[in-house]
Amino acid sequence: MSKEKKKALFICLGNICRSPIAEGVFQKTVNDMNIGDYWEIDSAAIGSWHVGNPPDWRALDTMKKHRVPYNNTARQVMEVIVTEDFNHYDFIFGMDDQNMKDLNKRAPKGSRAKLLLFGEFDSQGERIIRDPYYDSDAKGFEKCYEQSVRCAKGFLEYLQKSEAK
Ligand code: 4NP
Repeated sequence: MSKEKKKALFICLGNICRSPIAEGVFQKTVNDMNIGDYWEIDSAAIGSWHVGNPPDWRALDTMKKHRVPYNNTARQVMEVIVTEDFNHYDFIFGMDDQNMKDLNKRAPKGSRAKLLLFGEFDSQGERIIRDPYYDSDAKGFEKCYEQSVRCAKGFLEYLQKSEAK
């Protein structure tokens, strides 16, 4: 792992269900690996509905259950911030194909960030982290947590390998 600080931003539609879980899990994963100091990690929304709101209670419950610390609030990716985000972060992760379309549409030409589907790094090959917001229970949040654990690990292994080359 290179000693230079890397920056990762996790994106979903509302920033209250999937991307807070992905962010929390990724932070915990790097902390547990003792490489937390080398990462700057945040999450943001595509849409502005929930700016300033805490994550959905089911996302918070799921993180609590798995001892994933979380204290962020939803931040909107606004036009002016989008430009900065795309040039500030090394990696911007989307959760589903629509997130990726939106990110690709908003990315300024030649910007720094690599736009990646988080699920591409799932060792079980589950590409899409489905939106659980409208579900009547919390099962989709648990599943998002499990996928995020695999994807965080898979991505960090991929990065280690690509840096060793
Ligand atoms: P998320 O879920 O993108 O995983 O945070 C959603 C949360 C809220 C809405 C859509 C998706 N919404 O339409 O308000």
